[in-house]
Amino acid sequence: MKIWKKGLRLAVAFSLAGSLAACGTGQNQISNAQQAKPNEKVKLVYARGKDVTPGTRKLIAAFEARHPNIQIESREMPADVGQSHDQYVTMFSAKSSEIDVFDLDVVWPAEFAQAGYIWPLNRFIERDHINMNNYIQGAVDAGNYNGKQWAMPKFIDTGLLFYRKDIVKQPPKTWDELIAMAEKTKGEKGTKFGYLMQAKQYEGVVCNFIEFVNAYGGKVIDEKGDVVINSPNTVKGLKKMIQIVQSEYVPSNIKTFTELESHTAFIEGQSPLIRNWPYQYELAQDPAQSKISGKVGVAPLPAGDAGSAAALGGWLIGINKYSKHPQEAWEFVKFMTGAEGQKITALYGGSAPTYLPLYNDAAIKKNELFGNKNFVQGIKAAVPRPVSPIYPKISDIIQIEVSKALAGEQTPKQSVKNMEIKMKEAMKG
Ligand code: GLC
Repeated sequence: MKIWKKGLRLAVAFSLAGSLAACGTGQNQISNAQQAKPNEKVKLVYARGKDVTPGTRKLIAAFEARHPNIQIESREMPADVGQSHDQYVTMFSAKSSEIDVFDLDVVWPAEFAQAGYIWPLNRFIERDHINMNNYIQGAVDAGNYNGKQWAMPKFIDTGLLFYRKDIVKQPPKTWDELIAMAEKTKGEKGTKFGYLMQAKQYEGVVCNFIEFVNAYGGKVIDEKGDVVINSPNTVKGLKKMIQIVQSEYVPSNIKTFTELESHTAFIEGQSPLIRNWPYQYELAQDPAQSKISGKVGVAPLPAGDAGSAAALGGWLIGINKYSKHPQEAWEFVKFMTGAEGQKITALYGGSAPTYLPLYNDAAIKKNELFGNKNFVQGIKAAVPRPVSPIYPKISDIIQIEVSKALAGEQTPKQSVKNMEIKMKEAMKG
């Protein structure tokens, strides 16, 4: 699937060459940017989506302890990543300097780089001898565009199945087994549902869709960058997704569920099964927040006819092009994405390191999820979304057409056909 990504990159590279040159985010400019005088305290504003774990708080405290001259103010963005994205675009297109450092979803850096919203980081990376080979390649690639590194990988996500060990003895191996199990276990031990997922019209539904499509042998874009979504296998995957979303064992309002609504229902003990990202495990084990701590197991997502497929997600960190403190902002980026910062994010935030040497760290090895040898292999096999400045368009097309099919407003076949036509059109432009 890496080739898929490369294919799309190639497809858009030609039309972008001109506009990128015009952006001219000269790396030299950064060294001339304002620098704090010695002893002067600098305040950085760091924005990220809602963190339901102690991870961000601990990360900031550890950084401030090491950098007494830099104070971090954290800004919480919406839980729906699409809404966060749109707020950033509004801010940056107005050249706002109100935030300095921010988390970027793996699907944003190409777009933000092309728009000139973020600093290229190569100069800092070279100056501070950061070896990018120490990071998971897929995560590095997500922040790399047009030969430059625009964002540093913070953590990596992959879709997983979490289950209640006190209800489910063996996690389901196939989607059909999951359906049978969700029907059977709904109502057991005070649960209200059998399965939870993300089905709102937003980025999360794209990830769930990609997982179904690939599990049934479908693809969105092939190795050459051609749109190949219109196939019987894609239709099959979408049909399975519809069967689940329209079932009696998911909440009747599942089409309003992002990660927040689904993980809340899960930790309140309302379902034996949930599809979510790695942070779910740490959250569900936290007795201060969860009613099911000690009862949670984790497994790969169930397989369709073509095997199991997980979407590749994750977050990187970038520096606002209009930040007044890029040097200090880099110090914070470096800390968060270095060994110490990523260890805090893994242990307190439950999110998977992108910094490979950490997988040999004793505390990380003890973690049930990250200590499992299959975990990194699983991440490397996860299905990425395209790295492209037109990704928001592709995502919107998928979101709209999948949502119509989930709502029963059009057949899966029609949705898939519409996606093909609209994507081809978008890629031409
Ligand atoms: C997680 C993933 C991100 C994805 C999002 C969808 O935050 O890390 O890549 O886009 O979920 O909701």
